[in-house]
Amino acid sequence: MKISIQRETTVESFEVSKGLTLLAALYEIKEKYDGSLTFSAGCRASVCGTCAVRVNGREVLACSYKLQGDEHIEPLQYHPVLRDLKVDKSHSLQTLNKSQTWLHRYTQTLLTPEDEHRSERQTDCILCDSCYSACPVYAVNPDFLGPFTLTRAYRYTIDKRESHAKSIVDAVQSNGVWDCTLCGECTAVCPKGIDPKMDITLLRGESVKFGHSDPGFATQNFGTPDFGGGFGFDPNGF
Ligand code: SF4
Ligand code: SF4
Ligand code: FES
Repeated sequence: MKISIQRETTVESFEVSKGLTLLAALYEIKEKYDGSLTFSAGCRASVCGTCAVRVNGREVLACSYKLQGDEHIEPLQYHPVLRDLKVDKSHSLQTLNKSQTWLHRYTQTLLTPEDEHRSERQTDCILCDSCYSACPVYAVNPDFLGPFTLTRAYRYTIDKRESHAKSIVDAVQSNGVWDCTLCGECTAVCPKGIDPKMDITLLRGESVKFGHSDPGFATQNFGTPDFGGGFGFDPNGF
């Protein structure tokens, strides 16, 4: 079985054994053909999030992806490539700092199993960056806070122990919750089953509760107040 690998400006093809995970195939290439092939890996068990790459244009974890045929492997998009499949994830990680996604004012309170269940899924994030690589908004706006940060912001906003959720919500208004197009690409690629698109939608609801609104909405033209304009409805036409 042959796989091709994007290595900076060139593409190189290698013959690998059948039935391997992509990560096992990368190690095989490194041992058999080219010791300089560079990629990231840690746990080999879908836990550490370091091995995310793109296969045929889709983000996957190399340690859990089973090779299926002749495939094209690339590094994650919108991240500076350090070498071959290894990228620099520091910029996207900084969005967590910018958005202040943590408990701001902690109040001791009893969490029920239902409370824990509400934010369990978001807590599973392994910071693999697949969602940033798939996000069309992050592609054009590197200041966009991005999927995993907004998911995490939602997780802390609904945490019963947070008694000042407004400060978390306030921090995600600019380049954040309203900039997402709700395309769902992040949800489609997440290896942990997290649904950032839904969390962002719910975070919009939380934003409205704290007095925010979609800044794009204010600039839209809905026609003149006599309903003769953008609605296409003429009350004098009857
Ligand atoms: S739903 Fe929003 S955050 Fe997710 S990929 Fe689309 S634009 Fe990006
Ligand atoms: S939300 Fe999912 S895709 Fe995004 S970093 Fe976390 S685990 Fe990876
Ligand atoms: S090596 Fe840890 S998630 Fe793949």
